Amino acid sequence: MSATSRFVSSHFPDTRMRRMRRDDFSRRLMQEHRLSADDLILPVFVLDGSGREEAVASMPGVSRRSIDGTLKIAERALALGIPALALFPVIDTSLKTADAAEAWNPEGLVPRTVQALKSHFPELGVITDVALDPYTSHGQDGLIDDTGYVLNDETLAALEKQALCHAAAGADVVAPSDMMDGRVGRLRAALESGGHIHTRILAYSAKYASAFYGPFRDAVGSAGNLGKGNKKSYQMDPANSDEAVREVALDIAEGADMVMVKPGMPYLDIVRRVKSELAVPTFVYQVSGEYAMLKAAAANGWLDERACVLESLLAFKRAGADGVLSYFALEAAQWLVEGK
Ligand code: PBG
Repeated sequence: MSATSRFVSSHFPDTRMRRMRRDDFSRRLMQEHRLSADDLILPVFVLDGSGREEAVASMPGVSRRSIDGTLKIAERALALGIPALALFPVIDTSLKTADAAEAWNPEGLVPRTVQALKSHFPELGVITDVALDPYTSHGQDGLIDDTGYVLNDETLAALEKQALCHAAAGADVVAPSDMMDGRVGRLRAALESGGHIHTRILAYSAKYASAFYGPFRDAVGSAGNLGKGNKKSYQMDPANSDEAVREVALDIAEGADMVMVKPGMPYLDIVRRVKSELAVPTFVYQVSGEYAMLKAAAANGWLDERACVLESLLAFKRAGADGVLSYFALEAAQWLVEGK
C-alpha cells in the first residue's frame, strides 16, 4: 500500500489527527526530532591583542573578542554542553596581502587561538576555517590573476599550507569554506602525509553565493576589501540543487568526514536531499544574515526571539541536519536548559 492510499483509506472520525496533539504527554511521545546542545556549533570572531571586545553592528549580541575573551566564551559553551567552536579571525589590514601569506603563519592569530583553547579546554572541539578571504587584500577566498579571476590550483597550494598550519596548532577539524575544486582531496592527502591522521575535514560542500553573508563580511572586515566583487565563480548558484548533491558526493569521495550546506533556512531542501541521497554526517550553517533578520525582528517586538530561534534550529534537524552552526548557539543551549 502506498503512503497516499494509506491516508485515503482512513476516514473521519476513525482518524482524528488532533487526538495525539491534545495533551502534552502524547505530543512528547510522538515528537520525531529533538534539539539538544549536542547539535550546536558556536562560530566566534577572534581579534588580536588582549582585553579587546568590539560589538558587530549588524549582528546585535555578537562581538569580536581577543583570545582572553574567547576563552571565557569557550568556557560557557563547554558548561552548556556545546561540543565545538568554529573560529573566524579578524586580521589586521596591515597583514592582508595579495598572496595571503599570513594564513599559514605559525605565529598567526588562528594558531595562537587554537593553542590557547586546546590547552585550557582539551575536550572542546576546535574547528578552523580554511579559506583565504580574511587574509587577502582583495577579499576573495583564493588567489587571483590580473583579471580578478580566482585561480583554482594555485589557491589549493595555499589552502594546503593553511590547513597544515591549523592542524599543527592542534585544530581538531579543518573546514574548507573556499569552494575551490579538488581542495578536500588535496587537504586530506596533505594531512595524512603530515601525520595528522585524526584531523577531521568538515567540508563546506554546498556553499551558495548568498547575499545572506553580508553581516559576516562586516564582522571579519572583508566587505571593504571585496568591494563590488562577488564570489559567483566559485560559490554555487542559488538556483541549483542537483549541483549541491554532486558537490557533496565529490567531497565525500575526496575524504570529507562531514559536509555542510550553507546558508541554512532558505536551503532546507538541500539539507534534506543531501541527507536522504548521501546519508553522511550533514551540517548546516545558520549564517550571519539569518541571525541578523531574527534579531532585528525580535528587537522590534515583531517576533518572539526564543520561540522563533528554537523553531528554526529544530527545523534544521527535521530537514536532516546532524548539527547546526549558529550564532544563537549559546542562547539556545541556555534556553534548552531553562526549558527542562
Ligand atoms: C568565508 C566565509 C564566509 C562565511 C563563512 N566563511 C563568507 C563568505 O563566503 O563570503 C559566512 C558565514 C556567515 O555569513 O555567517 N570563507
